[in-house]
Amino acid sequence: MKLNERFIQDLQDKIDIDSVISSYVNLKRRGKTLVGLCPFHNEKTPSFTVYPDTRSFYCFGCGAGGDVISFVRRIDNLDYIEAVKAVAQMAGMPMPEDGYDDTLSKKRMRLLSANREAARFFNACLMEEKNRSALEYFLSRGLSMNTIRRFGLGYAPNEWRALIEHLRKKGFTDEELVLANLARRSDKDGRVSYYDNFRNRVMFPIIDLRGNVIAFGGRVMDDSKPKYINTSDTLVYKKSNGVFALNFAKNANDNKLILVEGYMDVIALHQAGFTNAIACLGTAFTSEQANLLSRYAEEILICYDNDEAGQKATQKALGVLGKTGVKLRVVKMEGGKDADEIIRKHGKERFDSLLGKAANKTEYKLLEERAKYNLSTDDGKLRFLMAATQVLAECGSIECDIYATRLSNELGVNVESINAQIKSAKAKLRRSDEERRKREQDNMLEKSFEDKNNPERAKNLRAAKAEETIIASFMRNPDFYKKLKDRLSSDDFVTSFNRRLYQCLCEKLDAGVDAELSQFAKHFSPEEMDSVTRIFISSSSLSNTVKECEDCIEVLKEKVAPKITDTSSMSDEEYLKLFKKN
Ligand code: UTP
Ligand code: MN
Repeated sequence: MKLNERFIQDLQDKIDIDSVISSYVNLKRRGKTLVGLCPFHNEKTPSFTVYPDTRSFYCFGCGAGGDVISFVRRIDNLDYIEAVKAVAQMAGMPMPEDGYDDTLSKKRMRLLSANREAARFFNACLMEEKNRSALEYFLSRGLSMNTIRRFGLGYAPNEWRALIEHLRKKGFTDEELVLANLARRSDKDGRVSYYDNFRNRVMFPIIDLRGNVIAFGGRVMDDSKPKYINTSDTLVYKKSNGVFALNFAKNANDNKLILVEGYMDVIALHQAGFTNAIACLGTAFTSEQANLLSRYAEEILICYDNDEAGQKATQKALGVLGKTGVKLRVVKMEGGKDADEIIRKHGKERFDSLLGKAANKTEYKLLEERAKYNLSTDDGKLRFLMAATQVLAECGSIECDIYATRLSNELGVNVESINAQIKSAKAKLRRSDEERRKREQDNMLEKSFEDKNNPERAKNLRAAKAEETIIASFMRNPDFYKKLKDRLSSDDFVTSFNRRLYQCLCEKLDAGVDAELSQFAKHFSPEEMDSVTRIFISSSSLSNTVKECEDCIEVLKEKVAPKITDTSSMSDEEYLKLFKKN
């Protein structure tokens, strides 16, 4: 079933694509378009472009493209209907009653309610007298009853089927619980059985920004391994996007977030009044998490553990978060290995003073370099200075000035020679930047012949380009279509992807629907929409005349009846094509 086309069109009319996208991406106006760093791949020079006039976006770096719905779909990892719902909500438009397939969305709702029931169950178990040791565990780690309630903490009993039995009574099937990763299925000797995924663990529910319980972390209460079991990816949870406690922290509203490593650190901080603490889940810090955080913070204070793993994670987070343009500071954990321990041992004032001493990105990098060298020797000093000037080469002139003076005082080196060194490091950096940009451009050019959705394109570039010009022109000018449609059939198309797109376009135009990008989103996958968008926006650089379309039709007709009738001189491909056409 199809979602009402009228509705999609109204929705597109109501919502501005640039305002939606700019809540995820830092956009700068450039003429009629807006550009920014692409949220779908890593890049240093902006090639992500938003076209308010055609209500589309396209990235010249990775080829991602589409309309506002496909943008939301991709960035929030939603299915089509959910993305439409999300955009409708932003636009303040109620969804039509019916006319769309929402089985997937219903399935997700079931998983969310199973998760909610599970969280209730775990919480109730925590309060039972017979599970006293679990509650004792949390209390022994300094959590108050209030905190336990606020975070909805719980306990998964030391049994094989406690949760399954409970949720069965509530009407959930074993299969649903497996889908939610609350239960596991075993096929021993052909006998199927189900058992609880979380057993004898204290439980931390993970709650999304809409208040849904989307996943759990479960910790052992002793030193056994694995320390934590976490919900793996499900229909409602993607671990690499997960952020713990953002549902609370987003309202802390001083535009700062404190980023820590663990569940316990977050909870200890909230209890101590730092209600803007969060932790990123999953093993590697991802650009999705970075983008999400940058929407809720202007500044992020990184408070990772005071060990080697923590240092490495800090470097990684600085890199990924740096791309979002959010202000970053690094807090050195002193007096304990992590935030939780520092607060427990020394109180919240100590932690607050650590926050006050937080290093900015440059200071942090300088500290990192400093630790590598022995500054009591001349050789150590020299090598540190060389490294420090590399760091400063990436900074603005005021920052350079401040730190060059500091370094000069501290190391007893003439400030002019430090400045000279910075200057040459800057020049070198600029050269390598230019080389990189050139490489990126070359790549783009090379890639522009290729299209992963249309593998025939590179081999039939002339025909494919003609097809694309026709499609783009007809999309924009339905009268061209009326005028020329009888002179062209979809059989004339050489590449099958473009043929399919053309057929779809004809259906729309014949039905009198405006052929906007959004009308194609349900016929093409999000990946395919990249190519549809590329074709669509390419028309903005064309003069779009009927004559041009006629020429393109000629190009395609040539292909159908090649002038070379001597088939012996044809390539296999050409021959095959001729054969197919006849
Ligand atoms: P930590 O080992 O620092 O855990 O791992 P923690 O939360 O501070 O635990 P305590 O203080 O020992 O109780 C940091 C985070 O890494 C993830 C969890 O999200 C944890 O909070 N982790 C760690 C796992 O997912 N699995 C593990 O086995 C260990
Ligand atoms: Mn810890």
